[in-house]
Amino acid sequence: MAASSARAALTSIPLFHEKLRKSNRILAVCGAGLSAASGLPTFRGAGGLWRNHNAVDLATPEAFDADPGLVWLFYAYRRHMALNVKPNPAHYALAELARKKPGFRCLSQNVDNLHVRAHHPPSQLSLLHGSLFSLKCTTCPWTDPYNTADPLCPALAPAAESSPDPTKPLPLLDPSQPLADIKESELPHCPDCKKELVRPGVVWFGEMLDEQMLEDIDEWIEQEPVDMVLVIGTSSFVYPAAGYAERARTEGRTSVVTVNLEITGKDWESMAEGDFGFEGDASLLLPELLGPVIGEVKGEEEG
Ligand code: OAD
Repeated sequence: MAASSARAALTSIPLFHEKLRKSNRILAVCGAGLSAASGLPTFRGAGGLWRNHNAVDLATPEAFDADPGLVWLFYAYRRHMALNVKPNPAHYALAELARKKPGFRCLSQNVDNLHVRAHHPPSQLSLLHGSLFSLKCTTCPWTDPYNTADPLCPALAPAAESSPDPTKPLPLLDPSQPLADIKESELPHCPDCKKELVRPGVVWFGEMLDEQMLEDIDEWIEQEPVDMVLVIGTSSFVYPAAGYAERARTEGRTSVVTVNLEITGKDWESMAEGDFGFEGDASLLLPELLGPVIGEVKGEEEG
């Protein structure tokens, strides 16, 4: 195939629709780009800095040990942001795909709860990195699976401060405004053991993902060949998420479909025959791409 016709096949919406209609076992691997159109910052690139801290550097057990007040402010800010945005048409499109195709499974690295709020069927959703709205004790087995208190405690109130001018960032985002120095005694403590700090129920760098969830995903991939893998709004840097597309690939059968605001030359080169790449905002692309199966996206959160 000439290079130009190969590229035309990779970006052909009619060819993608033909493959989608025939696909039963579909996997999606989602990242922060999926929620970008809702107004949540991604991790890498613009928006990946919080008050001059690299967002990735704060997502570690070491950062929490060194300064739990700082890390809690960062997570309190992210909880506040996530509570104040809405799922976008891409979340609703994926949730509808799950209802239309029982063989669809969505793996998401996002901790913002937007898949859940878009009513994605829980049995077809794996939250790889946990949730901003679950809490756990740093030491004992206590957990709270769903807590949306904002602020979580008075010391974390600056993270929930609403700016009177919506065009200006929250004071917490402005590095010129000093951060409160929060004492450990002011942070949430475990209601069970009453000794240790509570922490966000997210997976930090260097920590294991939930073992049972990983086993279930492996089992699902190995059961039968996968027809299609949708890789949506992720930089594919963080494992195991970044490895699932190739793990699920059966040559000649599986189409790996990249949906991203930016697809690099290297990404295009690494695509195989039958793969697809769609460059743009996932919230606009997914409803169009999934349209023949899901119909028109009518997303509404329940009150
Ligand atoms: P990244 O910030 O690394 O990547 C976001 C991707 O989304 C980039 O490839 C962007 O080009 C793309 N993107 C941005 N806006 C988009 C839009 N509107 N539509 C489509 N694509 C868009 O985020 P992740 O890949 O999710 O982990 O990062 C993976 C993990 O690293 C996160 O779950 C988090 C982070 O550190 C932990 O905290 C453990």
